[in-house]
Amino acid sequence: MSNEKKELNKTTKLNLNLPRKLSFELPKEEIINRINRLKSFLDNNDIFILYSNFPSNHPDAIYQKFRQNSDFYYLTGLNIAPAILVITFSDVILFYNEPDPEEELWTGIKPNHNEIKNYLEFITDILPFSEFKEKIFQNLENKTKIYYPFGINQEYDYFILNQLEHRIRRSRSNVYFPTTIIHAYEILFELRIKKTPYEINIIKEIMEITKNAHINVWKNVKPGMFEYELEAILLQTFYQNNADFAYPSIVASGSNACILHYTSNNAKINTNDLILIDAGARKYYLNTDITRTFPAKGKFNSIQKHIYQAVLEAQNKAIEFSKPGYCMEDSHFAAINVLIDFLKEEKILKESKDEILEKELYKPYYMHRTGHWLGYDVHDRGFYLSYSSFNKDKICTSRLHKEFKKNSHLPYRKFEPNMICTVEPGLYFSPGLDTVPEEWKGIGIRIEDDILITENEPEILSKNIPKIPEEIETIMQK
Ligand code: GLY
Ligand code: MN
Repeated sequence: MSNEKKELNKTTKLNLNLPRKLSFELPKEEIINRINRLKSFLDNNDIFILYSNFPSNHPDAIYQKFRQNSDFYYLTGLNIAPAILVITFSDVILFYNEPDPEEELWTGIKPNHNEIKNYLEFITDILPFSEFKEKIFQNLENKTKIYYPFGINQEYDYFILNQLEHRIRRSRSNVYFPTTIIHAYEILFELRIKKTPYEINIIKEIMEITKNAHINVWKNVKPGMFEYELEAILLQTFYQNNADFAYPSIVASGSNACILHYTSNNAKINTNDLILIDAGARKYYLNTDITRTFPAKGKFNSIQKHIYQAVLEAQNKAIEFSKPGYCMEDSHFAAINVLIDFLKEEKILKESKDEILEKELYKPYYMHRTGHWLGYDVHDRGFYLSYSSFNKDKICTSRLHKEFKKNSHLPYRKFEPNMICTVEPGLYFSPGLDTVPEEWKGIGIRIEDDILITENEPEILSKNIPKIPEEIETIMQK
């Protein structure tokens, strides 16, 4: 199907009065609450600008599924593009063209200005997108500071900077233009790092789908199948539940598990392989991110189980430190400490712990971070260090990470209730390593859960997805 005809025949505009079935999934109260929290970061004369993603011009002109910029969705619940949100202390202005009925025939119904006003009554004004360049400098007059989303659209970035320079230089006696431009992330990273009850509940709901996807694989896998067949089971479970994949699923059998972001998923599964699956469902723009490692034939051998237990112990330790009073650097080193002890016991590392830590000698076996923030992005918005003006009073004072990183004076962002992060340590013994026993080569294990930081003990959001070897084996043998 091609829209060539439409291109050729520009004179007759089609308007078929298509049924206007629109669904706004994000509760309005949730959006109002987020906008109000955003405003609490603004001073009287500040202005905050945010772009939607811009529709991509794909070279083959075929249609693409549109994916909204997570910040724009977070603050509007709108899947529209191109659009620009402008927030000041008193106003919320949206720049967005009324949808073209003929365009809607091809790409689906888009909310019009009235429909948006009915959904988001708090919006002060909706203006055509095409008027943004002309109107924005009226909004910028006598503002002192701009929070601006650099990097989404080069054309607009250039325009704003260029015009601003011009206007600041030529400003008349009674007009001022802002000279302070700060990346919009400064606010967005602090705003989004803590989740609302709505977000937490949705992530719990999606976790059920993710759980079923992993368990459906365990129940159906057999040696001799191909990795992509397992990916198909994951996708089927996601799609049957009206969910999507949060990121391309990693289905890595045998030594493919040593490739951290393996996505080829095209190898044949051998009888004695472990299979690492890193896959999560995504719905309502929110994500889950879960890794489990299990034996193709349904039973771990003793070496596999031995290494698995070390990773599980590292993960349990890291989860233990995922609570107020600590920071992600603490949980990272809590995991590394367990892994180093294991590698020393196994005589894979022979140096002192101090030397191992200082020279990072564990890195051939464990080379990635133990966790990341999770939410509307899989690697979610949120600073890991407290340098920004909105989090510089949130520095973690724990001594734990300093025990492991002697010279560390970095201001790590402390854990606070309602943050969600992953905890995902692993051990990877690449076939090319000459420092490990022959039977260990090609084993890669990662265990990943999603954790809600609470006032007290961490809540494991994925606690219903088994990870004890015997529990996995029981399900696989059913
Ligand atoms: N799930 C992939 C990652 O966290 O990088
Ligand atoms: Mn992850």
